[in-house]
Amino acid sequence: MGLFITFEGGEGCGKSTQSRLLLKKLEQQNVPVVLTHEPGGTALGNELRKTLKRKRDSSISPQAELFLLAASRAQLVAEVIRPALEEGKVVLCDRFTHSTMVYQGYGRGLDFTAIKMVNNMATKNLNPDLIILLDISPEQGLARKQSLKDRFELEGLSFHRRVREGYLKMAAAEPDRWLVIDASLPKRKIAEIIWDRVSQLLPNLSLRTEFPLP
Ligand code: TMP
Repeated sequence: MGLFITFEGGEGCGKSTQSRLLLKKLEQQNVPVVLTHEPGGTALGNELRKTLKRKRDSSISPQAELFLLAASRAQLVAEVIRPALEEGKVVLCDRFTHSTMVYQGYGRGLDFTAIKMVNNMATKNLNPDLIILLDISPEQGLARKQSLKDRFELEGLSFHRRVREGYLKMAAAEPDRWLVIDASLPKRKIAEIIWDRVSQLLPNLSLRTEFPLP
């Protein structure tokens, strides 16, 4: 099995930028790596992403939202994530199961046990080896957005505060598996902190660096 790393955080936390930087760094080291994201990452997932984010679909119920997200995730795990891990690759995923725990659980108020069950069904119990949380206050994160474009970003501040608190609670409960980073730090500093941790998880990396593949 390869190594599975997920990026999590509230709106405007910079996880897409940091996941791309880590992808580049790993590619430079000749580490086989795949970057994907949720919801989306497959043809089905991309359709579901559009439906989930569209402003005018504000009538989607929390339960329907949970299942749409789970459908996207099930397809992504089956089609992209598991095959890559089985080939021994590093898989980076921009959002995963913990997004559902905070957005649909802490945010929308759905039952946590039910969410865990749906997540486990969708992923066949796949869990990340490392979860990188880019922590930012909702005020700061939302201010970074040019315009509030989708159903989630348009939720009130109290929703986004619950999302942040949810993340911090989960990270505190499992400190060995989570790396929590202050997302207001400069981009380069954040990338360094991430690389420090990730490089420790790649035992063969120094060998690869000494003998770069063609
Ligand atoms: P983003 O990752 O491009 O920011 O957009 C995805 C949006 O979907 C984001 O606002 C969070 C939301 N979302 C959930 O509510 N639950 C989930 O499980 C996932 C993966 C995303």
